Amino acid sequence: MDNHRTASQDSHYDVIIIGAGASGLYCALTAGRRGRRVLVLDHANKAGKKILMSGGGRCNFTNYFVEPEHFIGSNPHFCKSALSRYPSWEFIAMVEQHKIPYHEREHGQLFCDDSAQDILTMLLNECSAVGVQVRLNTQIDSVQALDNDKNDKNDKKARFKLLTSKALSKKDKQAQKDLAHQSTAVQASFCCESLVVATGGLSIPTMGASGLGYELAQQFGHSLITTDASLVPFTFTDKTGELIRTLAGISIPVIASNERISFKLPLLFTHRGLSGPAMLQLSNYWQTGETISINLLPDIDMTALFLTHKKSHPRQLIRTVLADYTDNALPKKLLAALQTTLWDDIKDKELANIKDERLIELGETLNGWQLKPSGTEGYRTAEVTRGGIKTDEVSSKTLQSNYQDGLYFIGEVLDVTGWLGGYNFQWAWASGFVCGEVV
Ligand code: FDA
Repeated sequence: MDNHRTASQDSHYDVIIIGAGASGLYCALTAGRRGRRVLVLDHANKAGKKILMSGGGRCNFTNYFVEPEHFIGSNPHFCKSALSRYPSWEFIAMVEQHKIPYHEREHGQLFCDDSAQDILTMLLNECSAVGVQVRLNTQIDSVQALDNDKNDKNDKKARFKLLTSKALSKKDKQAQKDLAHQSTAVQASFCCESLVVATGGLSIPTMGASGLGYELAQQFGHSLITTDASLVPFTFTDKTGELIRTLAGISIPVIASNERISFKLPLLFTHRGLSGPAMLQLSNYWQTGETISINLLPDIDMTALFLTHKKSHPRQLIRTVLADYTDNALPKKLLAALQTTLWDDIKDKELANIKDERLIELGETLNGWQLKPSGTEGYRTAEVTRGGIKTDEVSSKTLQSNYQDGLYFIGEVLDVTGWLGGYNFQWAWASGFVCGEVV
């Protein structure tokens, strides 16, 4: 490593934050306000890339109704302290102070009227107002805990030393390979008293996601809860997959559930599988191999409806009974596809000629279609990473490591995953805030 060194510099900061994303920037501005000398390092060429792409470009920055129940993790109590000390109205107050126009959508979700850029600009302005330095295109090569006895006498509080080099783009990497012996990597070293890991999760690698946070946690003796893509669409490979693909573009209100939870929200058929808020929310609670249940007509007891119609309109066909719902709940194309899949054998029979047991079975299927996803679209499209650094080994009050003084973990890198609806950003702000208050 040393023979690659063409420039060297040691700089001391009170706080170094790895990751200029949502939690890192919030932590930086909070610590900066307390007069701390803060440096934020990021390997990406731009800060807050996920903020910019969030909420379809309008950033669902928080939610009016934030409860611990909106978060999952192996220790469900861990998030309570930070969330209660930094409620959503604190962030809303900052948004209003910056005169960012916003609006509420269903379920208390708050979005920018104009652009997610407004939120990022606000955070960067708040950071620069308190002297926070943000250094992009910086790759972290190593992090070392300093032995206090050996510290420089003038630099007693340095607990960590970081070696960094210029993060190389694909083009740069190729150029460097071509030059084989003449490395252009500039290396700089930084020391700090408090080191905050805010590197986020693994979703959307093209946006700068990396496993560095998990590696650092393990370096300092922390355990990880298995990570997986979450808030992510489901995929299907069997016949159901073929059926779903033919219905791409159709959206219907459903109740999507498994044994642990259910969500009454829209479902979207896509060319790749099932998406929409109902599926994304359920994915937080889904384990590989599990079956999911979809109530296609959540407001109607289909079994009761079929049996009543059998008495009152015995000559009706099933599709005629369901035709009443084709305007909104069951679009015609979906009804036709369901008929082929679910009741092809009785499609031309009058209700009077269909056994009650068969009607009950069909009613139960429409109110609880059992599907077995083959998987999910994975980190490529997932909004978040489920799992992460085990929270039992981190203080819920300060976010400090139980094993290494001065080391902190915030945001999505921890095993705290929020629902869809602004909860993941609220966790980022809240964990960034409580950490920024103590570093
Ligand atoms: P975040 O990912 O924001 O930041 C991590 C930073 O660390 C990045 O800047 C990255 O470059 C940097 N980094 C990673 N590895 C590094 C390394 N090796 N060296 C240096 N730097 C490194 N949530 C929500 O509440 N409302 C919403 O509307 C949305 N919408 C949304 C859309 C999409 C497409 C995605 C992918 C995600 C969302 N989310 C969301 C989730 C939300 O974006 C996410 O939970 C937060 O950004 C997490 O904040 P963090 O600070 O933990 O990580």
